Amino acid sequence: MEKTLLKNFDVPHSGNIDVYIAHGGYQAVNKALINFKPKQIIELIKNSGLRGRGGAGFPTGLKWELMPDDPDVTKYLVVNTDEGEPGTFKDRYLVEKDPHQVLEGVIITAYAVGAHRAFVYIRGEFFSGAKNWIKVIADAYERGFLGENILGTKFNLDVSVHRGAGAYICGEETALLESLEGKRGIPRLKPPYPSKVGLWAQPTLVHNVETLACVPHIILKGSEWFANIGTKESKGPKIFCVSGHVEKPGNYELPMGTTLREIIYEHAGGIKNGRKIKAIIPGGASTPMLTPEHLDVPMAFESLPKVGSMLGTGAVIVMDDNTCIVNAVTHLAKFFAHESCGKCAPCRIGTRTMMKLLGKIEAGKGRDEDIDLLLDLANSLRGTTFCPLGEASTNPVISSIKYFRDEYEYHIKKKQCMTTEVPISDKPESVAKILVVDDDPDFVEITRFILESNNYKVIGASNGSEGIAKAKEEEPDLIISDIMMSSVLDGLDMSWKMQEDEKLKHIPIIMVTSIANTDYASLFPTDQYIHVDEFLFKPVPPDKLLDAVKRMLSSKVSV
Ligand SMILES: Cc1cc2nc3c(=O)[nH]c(=O)nc-3n(C[C@H](O)[C@H](O)[C@H](O)COP(=O)(O)O)c2cc1C
Ligand code: SF4
Repeated sequence: MEKTLLKNFDVPHSGNIDVYIAHGGYQAVNKALINFKPKQIIELIKNSGLRGRGGAGFPTGLKWELMPDDPDVTKYLVVNTDEGEPGTFKDRYLVEKDPHQVLEGVIITAYAVGAHRAFVYIRGEFFSGAKNWIKVIADAYERGFLGENILGTKFNLDVSVHRGAGAYICGEETALLESLEGKRGIPRLKPPYPSKVGLWAQPTLVHNVETLACVPHIILKGSEWFANIGTKESKGPKIFCVSGHVEKPGNYELPMGTTLREIIYEHAGGIKNGRKIKAIIPGGASTPMLTPEHLDVPMAFESLPKVGSMLGTGAVIVMDDNTCIVNAVTHLAKFFAHESCGKCAPCRIGTRTMMKLLGKIEAGKGRDEDIDLLLDLANSLRGTTFCPLGEASTNPVISSIKYFRDEYEYHIKKKQCMTTEVPISDKPESVAKILVVDDDPDFVEITRFILESNNYKVIGASNGSEGIAKAKEEEPDLIISDIMMSSVLDGLDMSWKMQEDEKLKHIPIIMVTSIANTDYASLFPTDQYIHVDEFLFKPVPPDKLLDAVKRMLSSKVSV
């Protein structure tokens, strides 16, 4: 299939507005604003059959029609660039490689629904994506594609960028709106839906990046072109993100309805090292797992539910026959437990309990009854959580027990992993013991998650004195702390006190701090400290953290 959404990806500097225009860019905005009335565009999108690419697959044209058709009502458009679903990396790619394409979608969509203000909400960790958004918006203002009287019409549109702090729940549209309003990102009750009561209680359209990227192409090529691609209920091209044990992980633009077999074997180069497939997660971490018997299922909204899964974001995660399913699901459970916003009890408590039970089984400490307990618990979350995150957290658990119960039983009975045949007791316990000290429990938890996933043993403490007490008791190999804990310079104070203690003075420290605090570096008592200012935007970037940890543990002196 000829590429549409990814057509500019091999064009050098496609994010540059001149290059974009030279490749046909902004013709769709021109055509839409000059040749079409807003209602005609809504009709076009409805006829195309476009459905949202953010996970739920709601019909896009219908969503636009639900916005009030009253020019006196202030309406907003929000571009959801949160993309926190594990396995999903298409929106980031679109924004990094061809951002003007998405901005064209934003302008046309805002014009169609009568919104004069749009907000790009982007996840905190997407540094280059945020930089790109800011640049392309500025360039579009300069060329008259944004601002007042766009292309000489009466249509005005202002767009600005808002960076989130890296919470998965802030991708959920109502939690996103709370966050955009400056509040804690937790979901709102629906109904009312954002199209009626959204940002600052005004009608608001929230869209996924890929959905918006489809819009200019429908304007240029027509709704029939789009509707002729795909299956009966899933139209158009789709970007499938393929990751895991494949030869060529990456983003592949293919027609909706392409089979998993074609995606994995023809496009992603098959399974690494010629191994076999054990399991496939078809639509991002919150969709139920499938097995090789499902390889011929079309990747479409209507066909995946028939085999007990969902299209979700179209993020295909492939696991080969050497994968320990219990281990993989434990990792996913940790993700959901960490990302649960805590608003409702079933999810807040349920996700953590599932994580703990899985951890026990994974470590060979499970009891026979734990598998059914896990299933009971997972089922008790279904239909009882406030938003879909809670229910989504049960999908990997329930589907993996359905297909791989024997692996769970093996872990419990034999106290070893069926896949690797390595007795759990022989696995290295940990490569090092690390004490994480911070008054921000989220920081401690996410750092713990990253480190534990890499086989480090982690102990947490919430302030400097607790840190010293734990360091004496546990004798860690390394401490990760923050200079500015609740009492000013608590971390620095802890470091000085450690110098006075023979037992503690040789323990290296990674001091996480903000750029604004760099001057404090000179106040440190020894050279056993490393200052890492990149961690300003929490959560910590895993690669940077692991790199710093490895460097510090190997040298045990300053870096
Ligand atoms: C926990 C959770 C996380 C979500 N994260 C995202 C996200 O990162 N990006 C996104 O576009 N939609 C996400 N969604 C879906 C949004 O709530 C919403 O349906 C979507 O942005 C609508 O856009 P669309 O109609 O273009 O698909 C998430 C939903 C849930 C429940
Ligand atoms: S289901 Fe989980 S994420 Fe959703 S509101 Fe409840 S606690 Fe928050």
